[in-house]
Formats: sequence, structure tokens, C-alpha cells
Amino acid sequence: MDRVANKVAIVTGAASGLGLAITKRLSLEGATVIMVDINEALGNTAAADIAQASFYRMDVTSEQAWQTLADQVISEHGQLDVLVNCAGIAELATIEDTTEALWRKVNAVGTDGTFFGCKHALRVMKPKGRGSIINMCSTASIMGAPLVFAYAASKSAIRGMTKSIACLSTQAGYGIRCNSVHPGNMETPMLIEMQTTFAEIDPVTAEEMSGIWVGQPDDVANMVLFLASDESKAVNGAEMVVDNATTITEGAVPMTGAAG
Ligand SMILES: NC(=O)c1ccc[n+]([C@@H]2O[C@H](COP(=O)([O-])OP(=O)(O)OC[C@H]3O[C@@H](n4cnc5c(N)ncnc54)[C@H](O)[C@@H]3O)[C@@H](O)[C@H]2O)c1
Repeated sequence: MDRVANKVAIVTGAASGLGLAITKRLSLEGATVIMVDINEALGNTAAADIAQASFYRMDVTSEQAWQTLADQVISEHGQLDVLVNCAGIAELATIEDTTEALWRKVNAVGTDGTFFGCKHALRVMKPKGRGSIINMCSTASIMGAPLVFAYAASKSAIRGMTKSIACLSTQAGYGIRCNSVHPGNMETPMLIEMQTTFAEIDPVTAEEMSGIWVGQPDDVANMVLFLASDESKAVNGAEMVVDNATTITEGAVPMTGAAG
């Protein structure tokens, strides 16, 4: 019950899906969680039911907003121990159909939001000499798929940023760890929306994909909890894949192939 007791955590994208599951898991294990999301209605409702959690409406694409949040967390709580950059959006399009607007929108939330979050978390964690930054990537940064062009680019940028931050922190002796988490398909509102769009633009592949393995938000939340806790003190700059072998299996992994 106390795996992250007395830790103060920021979780972005916390109003829904993986971010919400992560918030609940960290809270259950004793952390104080600041739930960041752009969706105020969902965020406030969710926070009301979670112990030691509060909702903070913020658009992660604004560096100014990150600066204010990081400073506020220090003045109110005295410390920031964990940052989970989980906010993200997915828009399906091949490179041929990716407009500049789509590219910038997906990268603004994923790439820019994660950059600003890491930068300001690092700034306020440094004086304490400790901290764990966890960046939500995807198997899309490991394997290819035609329709996730901008999304895969953003997740690959996040994967690279993570390693760079881990190296800096190690070499400079900051005591801050930075790791990425790479989920496969997880049952969240984002996945359901993607599957609906996919069925409209590529029904044949969508049909082939029905029945493939899909994980639960808690599968990812448990990995994040481990990275947030001191149990993972030697894990830095790592890619933690949560996909039931999807990225290393030739062909689709069926739902019946789920590990027990
Ligand atoms: N669900 C999956 O299968 C899956 C797989 C791999 C990676 N991921 C990643 O996990 C993360 C969470 O995805 P999810 O499936 O829970 O999606 P979701 O749509 O359920 O939740 C995403 C949350 O991010 C918030 N958000 C979007 N833009 C924002 C902004 N500018 N500022 C603040 N908040 C913003 C949304 O309001 C929403 O609450 C994303 O980064 C996603 O890319 C998801």
C-alpha cells in the first residue's frame, strides 16, 4: 500500500484512459497526485473520487503553463518526485495525407508537451537531487504502421528525449531518472476512437485486427508505479514495453494469447 508513500506526482492526461488508471494506482500506493488535463469536466469528476488527488486544468502545449505549474507544486508541496507525461492525441493518416496542421497538432501535445514537462520537472527536481520522469511512448516508436505517421514520429521523439535526459542526469549527477513506457493496444477511449476511424478508412485491415490482443489500463499503470517507486532506482533511460510480445511476434498476437 505504500510503494510511493510521501511522493508528490504530476500526471498529465489524467482525466481519461491510461493517465486516470496511473493516477488511481499511484494514489492507492500513497502518492499525492496533481491530475493535469485539458478536459476540466472529466478531470474534476475523476479527482473527486481519488484520495490525495487534485485536478489542475492545463494545456500541456504551453511552456509558460508548465513553468507556473512546476513552481506552484514546489510552493504548495515543497517537492516534486514524479512526473508522468501521459497526455497525447492520435490522428490517423499516412505521410501522404498528413497535413502540416495535423503534424503540428499531434507533435504539439506529444513532443512539445513532453519536452516542456521534462524541462520544468528537471528544474525543480534538481535541487532535491532525486526524481522519476516517466514518458508515455508507444509500440508505434518501435514498429511501423502506415497510418500512424505523425503519432509514431512524436513517440520516437519522446523516446529519444528520454534517453538524452537520462544520460544528462547520470553524467551531471542530478539523481533524476527518466524512462519511457511503450504500451501496445490498451482499452481506452483513444483506442476505441482509433478503431472506429480505422474501420472507416481501412475496413479490411480493421477486420483483420479484430480479435488481436488488447491490454488493460492497469497493465500500464503497474509499470508506471514500478518506475515511480524506489524499487526501480537502477532503471534509467530504459524502454519498458507493455505489449504481450506484440512487437517481437511475426503476425498478430491474438487475444487468446494473453499471458495469465
Ligand atoms: N490506448 C492505447 O492503446 C495507447 C497505446 C500506446 C500509447 N498510448 C499513449 O498513452 C497516452 C494516454 O492515452 P489514452 O489511451 O489514455 O488516451 P485518452 O484519449 O483516453 O486520454 C488522453 C488524455 O489526454 C488529454 N489531453 C489531450 N490533449 C491535451 C493537452 N493539450 N493538454 C492536456 N491534456 C491533454 C485528454 O483530454 C485525455 O484526457 C497517450 O500519450 C497515448 O499516445 C496509448
